[in-house]
Amino acid sequence: MDQARRRTDELFELLKPSAIFSRPIPERHRLIFYLGHLEAFDWNQIARTALGAASFHAEFDKLFEFGIDPPVGQAAQDQPAEWPSVPEVLAYNRRVRDNIDRLLDQAPEQIVHVAIEHRLMHAETLAYLFHNLPYDQKRPEAISQQSAGRAIKPVLIEIPAGDATLGQKRCEFGWDNEFAEHRVHVPAFGISTYKVTNGQYLHFVRDGAPAPHFWIERASQWFYRGMFGAVPLPLNAPVYVTHQEASSYARWAGKSLPTEPQFHRASYGTLQGGERPYPWGEAQPEARRGNFDFHHWDPTDVDSSPAGDSFFGISQLVGNGWEWTRTQFGPFPGFEPFSFYPGYSKNFFDEEHYVLKGASPRTGACFLRRSFRNWFRPNYPYVYAGFRVTET
Ligand SMILES: [Fe+2]
Repeated sequence: MDQARRRTDELFELLKPSAIFSRPIPERHRLIFYLGHLEAFDWNQIARTALGAASFHAEFDKLFEFGIDPPVGQAAQDQPAEWPSVPEVLAYNRRVRDNIDRLLDQAPEQIVHVAIEHRLMHAETLAYLFHNLPYDQKRPEAISQQSAGRAIKPVLIEIPAGDATLGQKRCEFGWDNEFAEHRVHVPAFGISTYKVTNGQYLHFVRDGAPAPHFWIERASQWFYRGMFGAVPLPLNAPVYVTHQEASSYARWAGKSLPTEPQFHRASYGTLQGGERPYPWGEAQPEARRGNFDFHHWDPTDVDSSPAGDSFFGISQLVGNGWEWTRTQFGPFPGFEPFSFYPGYSKNFFDEEHYVLKGASPRTGACFLRRSFRNWFRPNYPYVYAGFRVTET
């Protein structure tokens, strides 16, 4: 909990004070909401719901309870003056932390785990928000330049038919949508060794496709809009796009996006039928160098980490950007919502969200577990998400 709190505290320290009431993504709350939300969530879940504690600030418990996810283009209309001041929110936060620290030993392990992962999820989605702030609203950090290696050649690797295990064992931690564990037969298919790069996507843009949200054009040159500054478009880095853009590219290239079971088969499968916990095998993610767990802000080249690190020789299946699948987010057989947070997944089983797998540079190592599923609307352009293509 201390580490997760440090992670989100450090993020807020990146902001210039004037940024806190801004709304860098129109479909999300103003940043002040998130300052209160992380503590309100812990308080509501751990103290009030699990342990029956009485509220000391019922208005804030409610105001900061839930985020929003309206259809793209339907922005919230609230004004900065409608929100409490920063000192009021910080006073609430301090009181919550003092209380939670006293209660933590009594809280059910599952709820504590939920609170920690919830905070770490926001460490990533806050990065999406901060990414869209003007640069002068953030304290500057060094901008990493990409290497200019040889162009990545798209190669499809054949994955033989086999079973893939989706979901989590009941005895292990997972969010409600990760249950129940089940096996799916996956017919043979081909999948690209590397994620689709900016360089490959540039051909599509030159053929008339709109440029992704993360690109800017200046004097006929393309730049990548990084967290702390724009750099000449790194051609070998993965392109970050929406699901709609990824699907259009795949169609243009005569390919498809992988399904969720295909992603599992390519990432964790072997020829013998056994499956690995991580693409590279048994080693824990912390012992592995890859672009995840907050080491970098922006993507690195698609061939920058150990090449072909899954059994079948596919690279970077976790890290360096989530990967869109063509599977709509829905319940696994045996799904039951968490009683203490019934809307966490169920509210998104609406055929308007798609599953993403893998991880981005700002994804905590705990989310690299095989069963973790991420989901977003197909036209939400702010996610650190790319894709690779398949052929059947
Ligand atoms: Fe949240």
